[in-house]
Amino acid sequence: MTIAIYPGTFDPITNGHSDLIQRASKLFDTVIVAIAANPKKVPLFSLDERIELAQGALCELDNVEVSGFDSLLADFAREHSARVILRGLRAVSDFEYEFQLAGMNRRLAPDVETIFLTPAETYTFLSSSLVKEVAELGGDVTEFVDAQVMAALHNRLR
Ligand code: COA
Repeated sequence: MTIAIYPGTFDPITNGHSDLIQRASKLFDTVIVAIAANPKKVPLFSLDERIELAQGALCELDNVEVSGFDSLLADFAREHSARVILRGLRAVSDFEYEFQLAGMNRRLAPDVETIFLTPAETYTFLSSSLVKEVAELGGDVTEFVDAQVMAALHNRLR
């Protein structure tokens, strides 16, 4: 049974994340979407809100779970007996940071492999910050996030 962890801040989850998770759900027995508290990023949504929004967006995927964490990712992976950390590579610019992250996680948890997936081409430009910026300035984000996330963005940014 292979458990994969897909970590991130998910502030909020976008269709780019969901696309990647859907692909991963076909490859692994269980995918745990691990939502980092990540106070460094000063998230717009609280950890509980980010968990709820991700659960809503992913409710149709039976082998996907959503969980929050505020520890080291390597420890979280070990606690959940995960063998894989999953990350998305959208563009070459993601590579350097991801390479560093994978290296450090390998040092901290040598039994856990980092695996990269690429999202559908339609989502390669997407990021949570861009979605928040567009929504804040009154732009239409319908095609980038699920309906529940869109409503939450409107409520929060109004
Ligand atoms: N589709 C759309 N957007 C995507 C995406 C995809 N497939 N993949 C990444 N992104 C976006 C995210 O929305 C995010 O956008 P933002 O910066 O505008 O918010 C950005 O790419 C990258 O963020 P994310 O994937 O959420 O990662 P992160 O860099 O915020 O989080 C953690 C990195 C949480 C995995 C890392 O900080 C961590 O592991 N923290 C736990 C503590 C720890 O162990 N630290 C040591 C690490 S070695």
